[in-house]
Amino acid sequence: MEKNSLVNLLSPKEWWVEEHEFEIDNINYYETIFTIGNGYLCTRGSLEGTHTASFPETFINGVFDHNDSSIVHMVNTPDWIPVHIYANNERLCIQNSKVLEHYRVLDMRQGTLYRRTRFEDPEGNITCFETLRYASFSEQHLCEMRINITPENYSGEVVIKSEIDGHQFNLDRIPAYGNIRTFDPEVKWKKWAKSKHLAHITTKSLEKDTLYLEMKTLDRPHRIGYASALNVLNYKPTTKRLMNDYERTQHTIVVDAKKGKTIELEKLATIYTSREISRNEIQNSCHKTLQENLKAGFEKRFNTHKKVWINKWDKCDIQIVGDPKANHAVRFSMYHMLIAANENDPTVNVGAKSMSGEGYKGHIFWDTEIFTLPFFVYTQPETARSLILYRYHTLRGARENAESTGYKGARYPWESADDGHEETPKWSADGQNRIWPGEEEIHITADVVQGVFTYYIATGDTDFMLKFGAEIIFETARFWASRLEHNEEHDRYELSSVIGPDEFHEHVNNNVFTNWMARWNLQKAAETYHWLQSNHRDHLTILTEQLDLKPSEIDHWREIAKKIYVLFDPETKLFEEFENYYKLRDVTISNWDEHGLPIYPEGYGDFNSGGTMLVKQADVVALMYVLSDEFDDETKKVNFEFYEPRTMHSSSLSTSVHSIMAIDTRCVKRAIHYFHHTAFIDLHDRKGSTEDGIHIAASGGTWQSVVAGFGGMRVKNRKLTFKPWLPTNWEELHFKLQWHGDELKVCIRHEEAEFYWETEKTDELAIEVMHNHLVLRPNTTATFKFTPEAREIEIPVDEEKAAEFDKPGE
Ligand code: BGC
Repeated sequence: MEKNSLVNLLSPKEWWVEEHEFEIDNINYYETIFTIGNGYLCTRGSLEGTHTASFPETFINGVFDHNDSSIVHMVNTPDWIPVHIYANNERLCIQNSKVLEHYRVLDMRQGTLYRRTRFEDPEGNITCFETLRYASFSEQHLCEMRINITPENYSGEVVIKSEIDGHQFNLDRIPAYGNIRTFDPEVKWKKWAKSKHLAHITTKSLEKDTLYLEMKTLDRPHRIGYASALNVLNYKPTTKRLMNDYERTQHTIVVDAKKGKTIELEKLATIYTSREISRNEIQNSCHKTLQENLKAGFEKRFNTHKKVWINKWDKCDIQIVGDPKANHAVRFSMYHMLIAANENDPTVNVGAKSMSGEGYKGHIFWDTEIFTLPFFVYTQPETARSLILYRYHTLRGARENAESTGYKGARYPWESADDGHEETPKWSADGQNRIWPGEEEIHITADVVQGVFTYYIATGDTDFMLKFGAEIIFETARFWASRLEHNEEHDRYELSSVIGPDEFHEHVNNNVFTNWMARWNLQKAAETYHWLQSNHRDHLTILTEQLDLKPSEIDHWREIAKKIYVLFDPETKLFEEFENYYKLRDVTISNWDEHGLPIYPEGYGDFNSGGTMLVKQADVVALMYVLSDEFDDETKKVNFEFYEPRTMHSSSLSTSVHSIMAIDTRCVKRAIHYFHHTAFIDLHDRKGSTEDGIHIAASGGTWQSVVAGFGGMRVKNRKLTFKPWLPTNWEELHFKLQWHGDELKVCIRHEEAEFYWETEKTDELAIEVMHNHLVLRPNTTATFKFTPEAREIEIPVDEEKAAEFDKPGE
């Protein structure tokens, strides 16, 4: 590779995700997995020059709009990527020109996307086009692209046109649940991108060759400004033109290029919205940030950006010695979580497809609290705090959801966007199926509280609990108290017409997951009240006045929590997922796909399995993971063995939970199998829907499968506990956890585990390993040896059971 090639800026290869050729059918998949971002915004990995299948999207976290689309969308904001090149009057285009080489690398370590394409025109002139782009993590309002163009075997005129394009649409009316794509990949995006959310405010030139574009959203009050510059660094251009079109700005640079001498350019775009500054300041801020960064020079810009990345990785990186592929997949999952969450903005969150695609329109689900949040809590607690504060900032919407449906307190929306109102569509996009979770999947309200406690227990952030957490906990408890129905005959409390995580079954009564979580929410609210009473009386006084909370209400919560109905048979230790579940048809799963995942028994699918015992995704099994220390090992095992063979894993959330629970229940073969599914779900496009965006809950689930599954980490009674088990080919597993402001480094081998507690504190930290008490002294390594006997008692591998689960695709 040439000395000045941009590839030299990349990290070592183990951090790369590569693409080796341009294939129109896969291009939208690559757009998703090559998304770059910094939490404030993300840009899909679309190519710089367009092609027919291209669907470039930049999402700015928190910018939503409704207008005439069927539901509120995370807006596809102006595109800063376009760069078109012409050599000797010939447009060089990935689809129509002769391509000698096309290669891209996502460098996960520093959040950059590198591209190299070599074109040959009809005259035999060869041009090498290289770019390197990133969204700066040190200056979140800055995006940059370095561009190298090398005329390899000719001298002549090269024209570079760079644009900011505000003429963007969102997808709508695309069959969200259809497996069959009825249209050609080459036209589909243009065909379905019909939703307009942006209107033109201005396009103009600012001083110093800078262009400015401002757009507004149509029914939300956002203004979005982009300033941009294009500079050639080592040639004197023969022409430089600026053009302001309607909804588009364009820089043109013409260069008399010399054979073999690379033209080096920099494209910078700065972006601000009225979400973070006042409307009147947007243009100035864009301009100022742009000029400052131009002045700073590439090295400084790039190095400060890299430094933030390195710090982030330093806190979370995982090493799996002996399994580089798994290690790579785990890093890929963490990369996508890191670019999706903004620690600096407590009013935004992470959508189910992050900001990497249009799936679920940027809406936020329980995916955050149960699947992605733990990664942030234990590796980037400041970001976790912001994610939970989003729920605090949307509390008003949650209160209105409760009130508008006749209940008290706060009911969090199943699908949330910018204000906490329920955003779940009532119908599937093709109009064929009624969607009920917006009305019935109420467990989300308790899941939010679960997130609050995960964060609080791991960080000890009392300030957060006092200012924000307690209010969420009380208001959600109020919701449950009003939503639970008293069954006079049995003197118990019930929840009718709900949907549990298993969405195959709608309008069910007493779903175990929902009832148990509601009870837990009420108990936690009563505990929190008691804690405030004993430790923060003044604060309690303010809060009770503000919320008009009386001690009698707390007594009532305690009372009803005791009487919530749970379908459990103490003899078999089996939970019945919901009332009359056992009466449904017990259809047997007997076919598995090439990945070893179930294929629907004939005649059944996502929308008509309600009459069967087929389960969409972990439900009872998920409860035993989410509130792990409330269930003994035997109960976990019995329920896993009952529900696992009936589970379709039709949601991407299912396999990570199964991987973890398979270890808890000693079905270690299944643990590895499910881990692979969750870890490679997007990298290998296992669901065939990665083009719509990353399954971010599976990314979080991947981290949890490693740390809580193989690493066996759980928090029990506010204490860190470990019960690790490693697959045979994993020689060592290294991970780090943030715990009460300090870092715990963990290294697990087959025969021992090492813990190093890095802290400035002088006291000891008590943890538990394989049920043994272990005391960690500050800045000292403690080693725990696994005796074969102890391992056999804790995680005996049930070979017979493992063999029984040997399904194809392993
Ligand atoms: C799953 C939900 C999940 C949602 C978004 C659905 O298919 O069933 O549990 O929250 O996707 O990922």
